[in-house]
Amino acid sequence: MTMHQSLKQQAIDILRMNDRGGYTVPTARLYPYQWEWDSVFAALGFATFDRDRAWEEIETLFSGQWDDGMVPHIIFHKTDPDYFPGPEMWKSNTVPPSSGHSQPPVAASAMLTMMQTGTDMDRERAKALFHKLYAWHRWFHTYRDPDNTGVVGIIHPWESGRDNCPDWDIGMGRIVVPDDLGDLPRRDITHVDPSERPTAEQYNRYLAIVKFGHECQWDHLEIARNGPFFMVDPCVQFALMRGDRDLAELATEFGEPGIRDEAEAWLKHSKAGCDSFWSDDVGGHVAKDLRTGGLSTAFTNASAMALYADAGSPDQQKRLTAEIAAILDHCSFGFPSWDPRDAQFESRRYWRGPIWSVVNYMIGIGLSEKGETALAERLRNDTRRAVETSGFFEYFDPLTGEGLGGKLFTWTAAIHLAWAMGDDMLQAG
Ligand code: GLC
Repeated sequence: MTMHQSLKQQAIDILRMNDRGGYTVPTARLYPYQWEWDSVFAALGFATFDRDRAWEEIETLFSGQWDDGMVPHIIFHKTDPDYFPGPEMWKSNTVPPSSGHSQPPVAASAMLTMMQTGTDMDRERAKALFHKLYAWHRWFHTYRDPDNTGVVGIIHPWESGRDNCPDWDIGMGRIVVPDDLGDLPRRDITHVDPSERPTAEQYNRYLAIVKFGHECQWDHLEIARNGPFFMVDPCVQFALMRGDRDLAELATEFGEPGIRDEAEAWLKHSKAGCDSFWSDDVGGHVAKDLRTGGLSTAFTNASAMALYADAGSPDQQKRLTAEIAAILDHCSFGFPSWDPRDAQFESRRYWRGPIWSVVNYMIGIGLSEKGETALAERLRNDTRRAVETSGFFEYFDPLTGEGLGGKLFTWTAAIHLAWAMGDDMLQAG
């Protein structure tokens, strides 16, 4: 067996091994539940060898959808005392229990990709989920942009999926930790090296937001207006824009012109909104604190997703593409989650430097659609090389390719199969 074949087989084995019956966990022990965007990317991986199982992953995800349309970021199918903060902290009051906010809405794009590369079966399964998908997008526009600005906010750094990126430092810095929060039984640092995880101070602030949420029974308008944290995340905004574009395409396929028009109107409004979080200093779109108007200070892998959403004017796109190229010149493995030319860059700490396969996948699609083929190929190769160097880790050091965080990770395996390996039917471009 060549290395290529054996890595492919390992990736398949990881998806099978992390399968808990209808859904996959991101990795055993560290993340024992179903995570939203992890699952969607898992489906793209499954789609390369087991289409039925791929759809099942997304169907199980939507089984946790709230009545208001939200698809939560974690669904607690079976209680696992090894994970904190579990269902008892979130108090979602839903069946199954879940966390109280969402994560980047990447399902529309994955469903469209699976449908376009599949058969009638894929079409039928996509169609059956279509109205749930639409309800989720409508939830984002209603509850995360209550003033209809064209830009959605996130109520917790975890909603971004980029948990402790320095992007959130401005919003996190203003959070007052309530006295009655108590001592928190962190579990994550018993599984992996604490230097690769968030600090205790950050963790208390994360939980202060959770407390505010359950105390108002997860009233999402109240949280958006008065909650401790409300920031623009380029990753969520761009995933939603791409998702709206793909939702409109699905609506056309399924004979739903009303939904198509609505999704196109959302997209147009969102494109106009993107100017509000563009930074000339950085040369890209950055996170923005919606309470104070403050902008984050460096280019991230979320900034690099602008092309995937076709966000920004032609001049802005030119500028941000130049930044992408310049940043890649500073790394052996792209694309870093924080600009390595900035003093706050930490090559090994969670979302403060390391690279993630799933974000590379979206950046790569955007670059390739804009004709930036060399940059897109570079990212695809880097994603594969990181796995060849270290194995299927959660994330990687951009300077050395060292694998970090959890091992035998679902989404790293899935993206290897769906995109990074470059030899199958789910290729980008
Ligand atoms: C971390 C990541 C998040 C991911 C989750 C499960 O919380 O920051 O993006 O969904 O782990 O892998």
